[in-house]
Amino acid sequence: MIAGTQTSMAAHGGIRRQIAGVDVAELAHEYGTPLYVYDAAMIRRRCEDLSAWDTIRFAQKACSNLAVLGLLRRLGVMVDAVSAGEIHRALAAGYSPHAPRAAAADGLPAVHPIVYTADIFDRESLDAVVTHGLHVNCGSSDMIEQLAERMPGASITLRVNPGFGHGHSQKTNTGGEGSKHGIWHADIADVLRRAEWAGLSVSGLHMHIGSGTDLAHLAEVAGALERIAGEIGRSLTTISAGGGLPIPYRPGEEHADLSGYFTLWDATRRKLEDRFGHRIRLEIEPGRYLTAESGFVVTEVRAVKRQGAKPYILVDAGFNTLARPVLYGSYHPMSLCPRDGVSREEGLPQEEVVVGGPLCESGDIFTQSDGGFVATRALPKAAVGDLLVIEIAGAYGFVMASNYNSKPLPAEVLVEDGRARIVRRRQSVEDLVRGETV
Ligand code: LLP
Repeated sequence: MIAGTQTSMAAHGGIRRQIAGVDVAELAHEYGTPLYVYDAAMIRRRCEDLSAWDTIRFAQKACSNLAVLGLLRRLGVMVDAVSAGEIHRALAAGYSPHAPRAAAADGLPAVHPIVYTADIFDRESLDAVVTHGLHVNCGSSDMIEQLAERMPGASITLRVNPGFGHGHSQKTNTGGEGSKHGIWHADIADVLRRAEWAGLSVSGLHMHIGSGTDLAHLAEVAGALERIAGEIGRSLTTISAGGGLPIPYRPGEEHADLSGYFTLWDATRRKLEDRFGHRIRLEIEPGRYLTAESGFVVTEVRAVKRQGAKPYILVDAGFNTLARPVLYGSYHPMSLCPRDGVSREEGLPQEEVVVGGPLCESGDIFTQSDGGFVATRALPKAAVGDLLVIEIAGAYGFVMASNYNSKPLPAEVLVEDGRARIVRRRQSVEDLVRGETV
């Protein structure tokens, strides 16, 4: 279990020559820039941190490359899917649609390898759920009848909005009246009647109050879940604490003490087991925690200039590559890899610079705070041709990239045991216009 003392592994404002033992310059030379690089060992380490939980269910929306999903599957991690596309990805990565028939040896109920979690069924996702017979976590009560009609007698999980939430940004807070997510806690009795009427049984209860929050807020969820579990009663066999685990992005921030968090949830589970007289499976559903620190964006510096007194570095990645800074004012550590990998030494004078991308939009700035205010970052003095590495970009990075300004999506590379392999080729300009007609 992780201690509360581990600081970020990022090279804040320094020189970085390697990622997971592979030269940054070589990666850029071999695969081009901008490029996403993932370190498999870091993903493995983050899974081990959570080994106390019965089930780690990866919220693949954070990083859904098939190679990452395949790695997690081999590590025994289950997966969450929020769309027909994510269901397709989970199956393509080798996840089985069905829970094993027998209960686990430890007496816990069988686990669903893939769970569809959403607040609606669009028509494609309902078809995919029915075709593969997937377990569903319902975030709106209308989903109950829609599912019952197509999968009579199914068991479901209810995602409940406990009436409070918290996230690193208002945009990632998923609880309270200001959030569209989940079934409102006070409506639970009604919803249970609806499920019974539709012939569905409720076997799971899930709460997720937001992303990038803190353990103090997350801890409040356990009590709320216990109360709702009492209303559901003995049909309940699985509870999920949702995701939201924080990770350190800024210098000096530390990993949270997850052992205390597990103990709290384990106690909740045990109380429910005593009350219902059977075992309850305890799940956690992180996205960011498992992949954020494994991911790097390697970009090339293409221009160095001053606007009046303000120095700018412009790189070949923009908010089309990594959207978190423009969307939330998110902070990502950055480091520099000198052009030929060796020419300039550590201890170079740092400079406070603005880092921007290639897009025709002023908001295309990586160094900005919430609200779009342009900030600066201390970085070693850069020259055209140097590589800038944007770190802790493995969660909500590639998955939120776009083709804005008709920029092809970057390539993705996974480094395992010191070897890099391409796990998604760079889009071509032909890919960009595929399906369009003149
Ligand atoms: N479970 C559910 C139902 C979720 O909606 C989410 C995230 C997670 C789990 C995983 O949360 P995590 O452990 O990653 O915090 N694009 C934003 C984050 C959006 C999160 C959406 N839902 C960002 O870049 O910070």
